[in-house]
Amino acid sequence: MIVVTGGSGFIGTHLCGRLIDDGYDVRVVDIAPPKAGVKAEFVRASVLDAARLTKMLEGAEGVVHLAALIDVASSVADPFSDFSVNAAGTINVLEAARHAGVKKVAFASSAAVYGEPFRLPVDEEHPTAPLSPYGAAKLAAERYVLLYNSLYGMENTALRLFNVFGEGQNASSPYSGVITKFADAITEGNQPIIFGDGEQTRDFVHVDDVCDAFVRAIEGQGCSSPLNIASGVETSVAELLETMCGICGADFSPTYMPERKGEIARSVADIKLARKKIGYSPRMALSQGLREILEAKDGERSIFKPKK
Ligand SMILES: NC(=O)c1ccc[n+]([C@@H]2O[C@H](COP(=O)([O-])OP(=O)(O)OC[C@H]3O[C@@H](n4cnc5c(N)ncnc54)[C@H](O)[C@@H]3O)[C@@H](O)[C@H]2O)c1
Repeated sequence: MIVVTGGSGFIGTHLCGRLIDDGYDVRVVDIAPPKAGVKAEFVRASVLDAARLTKMLEGAEGVVHLAALIDVASSVADPFSDFSVNAAGTINVLEAARHAGVKKVAFASSAAVYGEPFRLPVDEEHPTAPLSPYGAAKLAAERYVLLYNSLYGMENTALRLFNVFGEGQNASSPYSGVITKFADAITEGNQPIIFGDGEQTRDFVHVDDVCDAFVRAIEGQGCSSPLNIASGVETSVAELLETMCGICGADFSPTYMPERKGEIARSVADIKLARKKIGYSPRMALSQGLREILEAKDGERSIFKPKK
């Protein structure tokens, strides 16, 4: 049995499906219920509830720890809440795993630990300089996750996820919410909005590839270094929108708004270490993943025939 904290969220929903397809029993520990159709056992609990966590982890082969507050702006407004869930909550999970005799915790860290990269592609040796309390808490948490390998002989992994995208992502996600927003605008016949000149770049990685990385992490022997989980492909926001418009046959005619403060200019990961350590190899091309998202929306609305 695998415990997935935060299993009711975007990545968690996909991961539960993947683990169940692979034959695992799955227990979700989350403060929100799982999405309809997810066939996992659900325990409503917070990772802040240290007393209950050990019991929930008993008998598990491993834990994938995804539970987190992911809103970067909220982490600036309320750094203590962010720290409590994202850093202290991770220590609770580690302590619970240790006491329950669970050897493996695979942790969702973030590219936010790097801050503004000064060389690209960003490899794991690139200095860390988080620009937000969210990034700082993720960095602290991943240090603890890996520290438990040397302290207690655990086989933990810390995966630094870049911009994960896929079906079911909330438009407010700080990571790839832009894809959901573009898809909504295109399918509703509205003008998509680009902040800045559109030349800012991101490394978009499909959620199926991220799930594959977590399965490899939980089935492996742990890793003393954090691992970048990304596509290794740099894509500008303007290119992203052009690709989406191309798929739908819509005109590329965005509205440009002033750039948002605090956004990093460029991001792309070096993924060689994850390839070497856990055999990670992303399979889903951005255009294919985007097509799936847009086709899924086709069922809901009249996509591919944008309103004029
Ligand atoms: N989506 C991305 O691109 C991305 C990139 C880098 C890192 N990450 C990390 O991956 C993980 C999953 O991200 P996501 O996009 O699925 O986010 P999400 O917000 O969809 O999922 C997070 C889940 O955690 C749960 N949660 C929040 N506080 C909790 C608590 N105190 N106790 C138990 N559960 C709690 C939420 O209810 C939610 O179901 C997070 O740790 C996030 O920081 C995501």
